Amino acid sequence: MKSPAEARLTVENACLRYGNLDVLADLSLSVGSSEIVSIVGPSGCGKTTLLRCVGGLNQLNAGVIRIDGQVVKMPLPSVSMVFQHFGLFPWKNLWNNIAYGLKLRRAPKEEIKRRVTEAIELVGLKGFEKSYPHQLSGGMQQRAGLARALVMEPKLLLMDEPFSAIDAQTREQLQFEMLRIWDQRPTAMMFVTHSIDEAVLMGDRVVVLAGRPAHVRAVREVDLPRPRERSVILTPAFINLREQVWHDLFGQQEGSGARRNNKRSTKT
Ligand SMILES: Nc1ncnc2c1ncn2[C@@H]1O[C@H](COP(=O)(O)OP(=O)(O)OP(=O)(O)O)[C@@H](O)[C@H]1O
Ligand SMILES: [Mg+2]
Repeated sequence: MKSPAEARLTVENACLRYGNLDVLADLSLSVGSSEIVSIVGPSGCGKTTLLRCVGGLNQLNAGVIRIDGQVVKMPLPSVSMVFQHFGLFPWKNLWNNIAYGLKLRRAPKEEIKRRVTEAIELVGLKGFEKSYPHQLSGGMQQRAGLARALVMEPKLLLMDEPFSAIDAQTREQLQFEMLRIWDQRPTAMMFVTHSIDEAVLMGDRVVVLAGRPAHVRAVREVDLPRPRERSVILTPAFINLREQVWHDLFGQQEGSGARRNNKRSTKT
């Protein structure tokens, strides 16, 4: 369990309303400085809204979000987001898409060159620097989206269903690539997914949200060893966790060992 002092991100009693619609209600959670927290919850419960609040794109009506102790009131340079639908600029080639954020920050040319080259290699797109997004497959575009986030060397990476628009085989490949990249450069990550398997595979913890409004229903510790190889999905520990998260989401809420929605459980 992480103490708040080690947390990179803390969300405390977050409440958000769109008009008459309560979307987030008294939601608290935290993410450690090199921890992946997977978020699962029903469609429309408020996962994207939560990420947007953490990313400084939406403002809470009550509660507070802190990154390294700093209250989030606007997008911070230390936070990067990866979206479901790639979000690349169609008129820029791969190199320029990835270099965009660093150029905005007026990073020195040599540094841009070094970091963009590194990020492109990291996601396996070497050789495609001059290609435009429409010349890349869906999986390659998502890799490019990832490289664009990683090149900023974020302290917190927000991933909103990053692999859901991708075919099953490429998705599996990307999951393990993402894990390999994270092993090389561990950072704090919030990883929203609809796939229970993916949530368990990627996460150090799985936070199960219930809606509406969204609140934390359960938090599961994923004590599977890293680095995570494909064989982990066949282990009893993985299968048990997957079942537990499934029950948190869809089953009756009998006391089955999960830490329920209370302040103690969410201050980890
Ligand atoms: N800009 C907006 N204005 C008004 N209502 C919104 C806005 N954005 C989202 N909502 C509403 O807030 C609720 C939560 O939406 P959100 O996109 O956060 O859900 P989600 O959990 O990410 O869903 P999904 O799993 O389908 O992506 C929904 O009821 C949605 O209709
Ligand atoms: Mg969403």
